[in-house]
Amino acid sequence: MDGVKLILQFLSVFFLSLHPIRSEAKRPPNIVFILADDFGWNDIGYHGSEIKTPNLDRLSAKGVRLENYYVQPICTPSRNQLMTGRYQIHTGMQHQIIWPCQPYCVPLDEKLLPQLMREAGYATHMVGKWHLGMFQKDCLPTRRGFDTYFGYLTGSEDYYTHHRCVHIQPLNLTRCALDLRDGEEVATAYSGAYSTELFTEKATSIIKTHKTDKPLFLYVALQSVHAPLQVPERYVTPYQSIQNHNRRTYAGMVSAMDEAVGNITQSLQDAGLWDNTVLIFSTDNGGQTLEGGNNWPLRGRKLTLWEGGVRGIGFVTGPLLENPGTVSRELIHISDWLPTLVGLAGGTTNGTKPLDGFDQWGTISRGKASPRLELLHNIDPLYEDTTPCELRKRRGKNVRCNVDHWARIDSTREPQSGPLKFNKSNFNVSMHAAIRYKNWKLLTGYPGCHYWIPPPSLRGSENSGSGPVESTEPLKTVMLFNIDEDPEEKNELSAKRPEVVSFLLRRLQHYQKEAQPITYPPDDPKCDPGPTGAWGPWA
Ligand SMILES: *[C@@H]1O[C@H](CO)[C@@H](O)[C@H](O)[C@H]1NC(C)=O
Ligand SMILES: *[C@@H]1O[C@H](CO)[C@@H](O)[C@H](O)[C@H]1NC(C)=O
Ligand SMILES: *[C@@H]1O[C@H](CO)[C@@H](O)[C@H](O)[C@H]1NC(C)=O
Ligand SMILES: *[C@@H]1O[C@H](CO)[C@@H](O)[C@H](O)[C@H]1NC(C)=O
Ligand SMILES: *[C@@H]1O[C@H](CO)[C@@H](O)[C@H](O)[C@H]1NC(C)=O
Repeated sequence: MDGVKLILQFLSVFFLSLHPIRSEAKRPPNIVFILADDFGWNDIGYHGSEIKTPNLDRLSAKGVRLENYYVQPICTPSRNQLMTGRYQIHTGMQHQIIWPCQPYCVPLDEKLLPQLMREAGYATHMVGKWHLGMFQKDCLPTRRGFDTYFGYLTGSEDYYTHHRCVHIQPLNLTRCALDLRDGEEVATAYSGAYSTELFTEKATSIIKTHKTDKPLFLYVALQSVHAPLQVPERYVTPYQSIQNHNRRTYAGMVSAMDEAVGNITQSLQDAGLWDNTVLIFSTDNGGQTLEGGNNWPLRGRKLTLWEGGVRGIGFVTGPLLENPGTVSRELIHISDWLPTLVGLAGGTTNGTKPLDGFDQWGTISRGKASPRLELLHNIDPLYEDTTPCELRKRRGKNVRCNVDHWARIDSTREPQSGPLKFNKSNFNVSMHAAIRYKNWKLLTGYPGCHYWIPPPSLRGSENSGSGPVESTEPLKTVMLFNIDEDPEEKNELSAKRPEVVSFLLRRLQHYQKEAQPITYPPDDPKCDPGPTGAWGPWA
């Protein structure tokens, strides 16, 4: 009798203690998404960089490293696709970033990721860079699904003063003003606070005060490691052996970012949230080699459709992964996060427009095959790679920025008129475009700076120019690469595989037919915040 009682007592205690654990495990996970800015392929420890990233290495080693993962080549487009799950051609935002005085934002009839997470019962918070438009209040993060927001609205600024200088074309004046907000209010009290530390502190304070009745969705869009090259001296100290000044400062900025990710993870553990958290780390585009970043051995850089522009660093970590400690070589794209995360949240994508992204949770967590066979990198008929020129202008040189001299392509190789005869697709191959199907990647038009740019440490003389390596083959209007075998895009195969070229040109034409007209308005002089104001909504 006593024995039975004891067993019953034991069982009830056992089930009582089990019950909360089981319901805990069933709760939707907390989701923390950390987006780095301009973080290059060759800038993370586990890709063999000379830059040390112990936290990123450790967290990714316990998670799943995404090694066939793609982002867009510049800031606004990547963030746009992250938030909408849709290609740029479907939002009219296929050209460029949103400049501070341009009166547009991600179309207001697009339903964004935080709105869907909120509908799934999440508390939704954002810290850091928005860059999805702000000319009117309805465009702000707090009006687009985030319960709270602390950060800056434009694409870049000073890391300490949080001021952004903009040349307002129609006014012919350069205005420098604050760009930092707490919610919708201008935040004036943070001058001198280095943004990586400031944003980390804001993120960890959200984690500490998070009420656990709702799951947490936290989007941390760090300023790191975008130009300007600024970092507290202590982060640079370990890199005295790097002689190139830009690269050394950039390395310090990466270290600060690595520490930020470590601090955010630690605070999730301290708050008891970690056991039910999925943490994603991703860059927004390839590294800018003119500003310290590097993508070696990949070709090109930020702003190009070469792998150096679009193959991104990314990993997922946390105790909920079923296949921890693995490397995924499945094709995954930044537009996939919306359906993946909403799925994890137990929510629905009801109310979005047709998605281009796929739910990749089975691929990431269980190592299943990716549902994505094809990836439209972009089609941008207005593309010009003016970066080197823009930089000269920013440094005070009085130059007009046209397409730079690298944009020359060998038009005698025009497929329809030259020696290569592809089946007619009607796709205008002068347009800057790229598409991927399984292992194949097709590029048309001018893809952007086409060099392979080694890190300064691999160059003969550390401070000599950019030391790019040029291809021995001229560029062509249509180029085909087998990315699985040739991720460095060295072996151009269009002449050998015309049937693949024809197929991919038809796919490009299919996409171009459904492309929205491009939204890219001229600067609105009403953006001017005046001598004492701050950048923000003006319409
Ligand atoms: C713009 O302003 C500068 C001086 O700030 C002046 O030299 C220049 O002529 C102006 N350009 C135009 C087009 O008004
Ligand atoms: C990380 O936390 C430590 C200890 O609180 C702090 O000193 C450091 O500044 C933090 N780093 C960042 C990048 O926020
Ligand atoms: C989707 O939304 C429509 C209209 O609001 C609603 O009728 C339908 O039940 C929803 N479906 C799901 C799966 O939530
Ligand atoms: C083809 O695209 C280029 C680049 O966008 C453009 O300049 C040209 O006008 C287009 N040609 C035709 C026939 O549409
Ligand atoms: C062109 O199309 C025809 C008919 O569809 C096909 O038989 C041929 O193989 C194609 N050629 C190439 C190079 O794709």
